[in-house]
Amino acid sequence: MTTQSPQTKYLKDYLTPAYLVDQVELDFYLSPTATQVASTLALRLNPDRNGVIEPLVLDGEHLQLVAVEVDGVSLEPADYQCDDVSLTIPAPPAQLTVHIITRIDPLNNTALEGLYQSNGIFCTQCEPEGFRKITYYPDRPDVLAPFRVRIEGEPADCPVLLSNGNLVDQGVLDDGRHFACWEDPFPKPSYLFALVAGNLVCLEDHFITLSERRVLLQIFVEERNRNDCDFAMESLKKAMKWEEQVYGLEYDLDRYMIVAVDDFNMGAMENKGLNVFNSKYVLARPETATDNDYLGIEAVIAHEYFHNWTGNRVTCRDWFQLSLKEGLTVLRDQQFSADMQSAAVKRIDDVALLRQYQFPEDAGPMAHPVRPESYVEINNFYTTTIYNKGAEVIRMLETLLGRERFVEGVRLYLKRHDGQAATCEDFVAALEQAGEVDLTRFRRWYTQAGTPEVQVVCHYDCATQTFTLDCQQSCPATPGQPDKEPFHLPLVMGLLGHDGTDLALQLASDEAPGGTSRVLELTQSRQQFSFVGVQEQPVLSLLRGFSAPVRLTMEDRPEDLAFRMAYDSDPFNRWEAGQQLSVAELLQLYRQQLEGQLSTGLSQVFVDAWGVVLTDNEADESLLARMLQLPSEQYLADQLDEVDPQRIRAVREQALRHLLSVHREKLLQCYDRYSSAGEYSLNPVAVGRRRLVHGCLSLLMLEPDELLQDRCLRHYQQAGNMTDRLAAFAALVDCRQSPLRDQVKEDFYRQWKHYPLLLDKWFSTLASGRHENTFFEIERLLLHPDFTLSNPNRARSLLGAFAQNLAVFHRQDGNGYRLLTEQIRRLDKRNPQVAARMATPLTRWKRLEPQRRALLREELVALQQENLSRDLYEIVNKSLV
Ligand code: ARG
Ligand code: ZN
Repeated sequence: MTTQSPQTKYLKDYLTPAYLVDQVELDFYLSPTATQVASTLALRLNPDRNGVIEPLVLDGEHLQLVAVEVDGVSLEPADYQCDDVSLTIPAPPAQLTVHIITRIDPLNNTALEGLYQSNGIFCTQCEPEGFRKITYYPDRPDVLAPFRVRIEGEPADCPVLLSNGNLVDQGVLDDGRHFACWEDPFPKPSYLFALVAGNLVCLEDHFITLSERRVLLQIFVEERNRNDCDFAMESLKKAMKWEEQVYGLEYDLDRYMIVAVDDFNMGAMENKGLNVFNSKYVLARPETATDNDYLGIEAVIAHEYFHNWTGNRVTCRDWFQLSLKEGLTVLRDQQFSADMQSAAVKRIDDVALLRQYQFPEDAGPMAHPVRPESYVEINNFYTTTIYNKGAEVIRMLETLLGRERFVEGVRLYLKRHDGQAATCEDFVAALEQAGEVDLTRFRRWYTQAGTPEVQVVCHYDCATQTFTLDCQQSCPATPGQPDKEPFHLPLVMGLLGHDGTDLALQLASDEAPGGTSRVLELTQSRQQFSFVGVQEQPVLSLLRGFSAPVRLTMEDRPEDLAFRMAYDSDPFNRWEAGQQLSVAELLQLYRQQLEGQLSTGLSQVFVDAWGVVLTDNEADESLLARMLQLPSEQYLADQLDEVDPQRIRAVREQALRHLLSVHREKLLQCYDRYSSAGEYSLNPVAVGRRRLVHGCLSLLMLEPDELLQDRCLRHYQQAGNMTDRLAAFAALVDCRQSPLRDQVKEDFYRQWKHYPLLLDKWFSTLASGRHENTFFEIERLLLHPDFTLSNPNRARSLLGAFAQNLAVFHRQDGNGYRLLTEQIRRLDKRNPQVAARMATPLTRWKRLEPQRRALLREELVALQQENLSRDLYEIVNKSLV
């Protein structure tokens, strides 16, 4: 907790480290409440200081200092300074060995940063600044050193003792304790350090690399989870193979370890050779994990594995460069998943996610560039902008360079900076060179925040057979950035003829027509592109594959959108046309309601087009399932200046009921056609069918007669996998009047109360209920004996689901705001990182209609007066500016 207001750190203040570390030796003597850490550091003055001695400042927080020695001589308290955040030796020799003993308390470490215990398992989370909670150290990513680690513990509590790299020694001591020694030959920054010790079982497999080295693969879990690791292991092997095939990159150690723990602040962590995972991203079998869980595991396992090159072999110079490793690694995990599953659907899901979370962030008080210029608490900058927009920025580079040159550029970057701490600029420079392109303007993506807006007006001149696009771009102001320069935007496009086929494209500057898809490069605030030889009035398909993370406005006629929804050869744009059509329809209903007009309901064009999709027997089912889904409440809210979330829900529900009333028979047919049970498989067709079936079911269950309720109950009871079961469960939970509701609620709980990840789903499904009473249910669930704020997954499952349930969270009386704020207050005392993250929904008050805006602001102002963690302080204060 802070007494004075926390300081802001600036990128412009970056200085190289005063001392470098040549070798780290760590000796852990494990004990739940009093672990002793002895550290020996071989340090030397950074040669760039030209021999001018500087004080040696080591970071350290929440440490009990036991002893300090320099070159074998123990220091008296007068020889050094020690405060809450550092240990300083004022005038050390230019080369020295420092020996430090500290004591820490893993059991009572509720922030889950540094060394802590999860179900009795010792584990660490050091990124970004957790290592300083283990021992005094220059805890910054540009100090790289080889680590040797010795761990000593009780064999009964900790039969398994793990750290990074290679196991070089182990044994039993006279007093019955045992030890293990690990050596990591690759110099690494402290944030990649890991230690795990506990009672774990190990699942093993192996992988033969491109150069025929055998790598031992190990997944460590608690005994009860031993049968749930197969999918994670398969995903790991696929990721290893894929990275060799696509990027020509091999794993570099003889052993790759993954540990699953139940208490984890984030998804997973890429510590060198020893990944620590939130068990949510490891454990799966068909009865317990949904399709989305499986896809999440595949992606996160790959993500952490890919970090071995993009993050570990080449790391970040400072935390302002975080997107250098995260944006690039997200892009690579997206490419991998696209190759494993349906590429089109993967792209749609990624864009939907970007719009759901990143666009609002970029339009809100926490908006920041992909490479931020300042921060108060770096933990607050593990954002969707750094991760997902960061990935979009690199995806644009791929579009501009083409896959081949792009891969060449990435390889050049890795080769040039192997073993170093690099910057975003280093990355762009390597791509610029490999791609032989000018990325001067493109670099603005790293410095300017905000989502650019692109407006396009088209004109067809039938006399000259010329089709012209007039493009303009602008970008709204964001905190600290009132004016923006134009971005370099790749716009992938095509033209559709009247029969729906792609026309050959010829720009006025081309000699001959070539191809049916083009990348137009927009680099100025206004630019025109003219196509010649266009023999008929075409329909423009722009921003194919969502080739740039922008908001595009075109005056599309509804007929053209419906046409593209049916015929666009780019599957992303087929979906996108449908989304635009839906958004226009829903916003129209919203305005009618707002102005007290008589509702016209959905247009015939839209209702028909939707029905055509529903009965399309040819297209990929997973694409159809996406196309049938109306835009989310959050996405609709993002289109409005003054949001009334309850009205959004009402309007969306009205639309769903309209579609149901017209297409009920077709929905039933579709449900019947695909809801045949069979062996569970994750292939895209099976996933698509399930999604389609569940879409139909949830729509049908809006107006369920008894027959349908019974079917839904059977669907729930007879489900052969959790995807089916959970879909039926969610549908029944929303059946307020039905006695089945309490029956399945009870049944699900009884069946899974000993399986934490499914209990999480129980909480989140109940908290996602669409009915008004959901709020009171959430209040009761907070008192449920299985609810706890100590476990991040559990806290998120109830509070996160609640805050995303917009109509329930944004109750008119403000009680939703009070409830969340109260829980965040409590959470902040235990786990600031998670508390700050949960507070995100509170920061979006400016876009609400006046009454709710005032209520929510009041809560924030009250919070601002209190003694908050640095994490929460930053979020609350920035959102009130
Ligand atoms: N580097 C991890 C990843 O792969 C995330 C770690 C974030 N940790 C944190 N405390 N914010 O994405
Ligand atoms: Zn990552």
